Amino acid sequence: MASFDAIILGAGAAGLMCAARAGQRGKRVLVLERAEKPGKKILISGGGRCNFTNIGAGPTNYLSANPHFAKSALARYTSRDFLSLVESYGIAWHEKTLGQLFCDGSAKQIVAMLLEECARARESGGDVEIRCGEEIASVEHDGLFKVTTSAETSTAPALVIATGGPSIPKMGATSYAYELARQFGLKLVEPRPALVPLTLGGEEILFRDISGVSAPVVATANKASFAEAALFTHRGLSGPAILQASSYWRPGDPLLVDFLPDQATEWLMDAKRTSPRVGLKTLLREALPARLADILADRIGIEGDLGNVPDKALRSAGERLKRWAFYPNGTEGFAKAEVTVGGISTAELSSRTMEAKRLPGLFAIGEAVDVTGWLGGYNFQWAWASGVAAGDAL
Ligand code: FDA
Repeated sequence: MASFDAIILGAGAAGLMCAARAGQRGKRVLVLERAEKPGKKILISGGGRCNFTNIGAGPTNYLSANPHFAKSALARYTSRDFLSLVESYGIAWHEKTLGQLFCDGSAKQIVAMLLEECARARESGGDVEIRCGEEIASVEHDGLFKVTTSAETSTAPALVIATGGPSIPKMGATSYAYELARQFGLKLVEPRPALVPLTLGGEEILFRDISGVSAPVVATANKASFAEAALFTHRGLSGPAILQASSYWRPGDPLLVDFLPDQATEWLMDAKRTSPRVGLKTLLREALPARLADILADRIGIEGDLGNVPDKALRSAGERLKRWAFYPNGTEGFAKAEVTVGGISTAELSSRTMEAKRLPGLFAIGEAVDVTGWLGGYNFQWAWASGVAAGDAL
């Protein structure tokens, strides 16, 4: 039976960061990973270029039952800190939009950097051993944590749950973090898919006809608004604005879409004065992709020249275009969700160290915890920051 200072379950973003930090503080760390290689989600992230952080990342960019929980870790390890690490490895990067930082080259560089950081533990008398392809058979606690895999049993006084959330099971994602949480009596906030396309049914099925059309909009769910592109798909709605809003959307809620973010509600009234001989469809085609303009105009049902349409009807059409209410009948689920909202309740953890209050020595980090970022590098920043918080406390 091999013994370590800490055992980390999961060699993803949070687990690798945590292992590197603890190793560089002289700790002997074992990382157990179920997949055949570490950092698989990092490798596919950001279209293979890894949107590794967001330069503006702060607590308001995260969803959690306790919105204050993430503050401490995010303040102590910021996006600038991660960027400095990236630059110290000579990895070229660029800012895309809205503070999103990507590798110029490949996400492989981020994984290689994290593995090198783990290897550097030896310089400080520590060691990080990463074992991939390890199926965990059991985890027990009798003062020490005892983890048994198909290969052997290892013990340590500290155990870190870094197995992520269940989003995209096809890539090997599991709910194992929640199983362990239940085993150790830690409460869960009900997990649900987030950053996920929404599906349309009923009458709204008509919008599937314009699959592939995208437009800049402001999408709002439960008072959270995002100004980015929306994309119509063969199942419903996607694109960054919709994915962002999806994290706040609950079944039964409307999703409000402003199709004309740059126009005032009175826009149609003004158009009636300046272009009375123009019809709604023609006017909308000037502002929106033609197929979208047509379907919206058909559903509003105003016929003929604007000059002949009563003001009341134009005002209400203008308002509708600014607050178009979709009633999605669901999401595309964990199979298509980029992340998971919910998870191990933050009430169970120290916000400084990520250690379980009721079981010292047990830690939970990354997506396994009920802290979920917006689209745009925020989720990796939480993985790095929570990994550092735990790694510095092991
Ligand atoms: P992560 O999922 O990275 O790691 C968990 C690890 O645990 C995995 O390696 C898994 O195999 C392992 N594991 C699971 N069960 C296990 C078990 N029973 N035993 C042992 N190991 C087990 N975020 C962002 O900020 N920028 C981006 O560009 C993207 N892009 C992106 C694209 C796609 C397609 C997805 C699905 C997600 C993103 N994300 C993202 C989100 C980001 O990938 C995610 O938030 C982090 O990877 C979470 O890091 P964790 O280390 O917590 O989990």
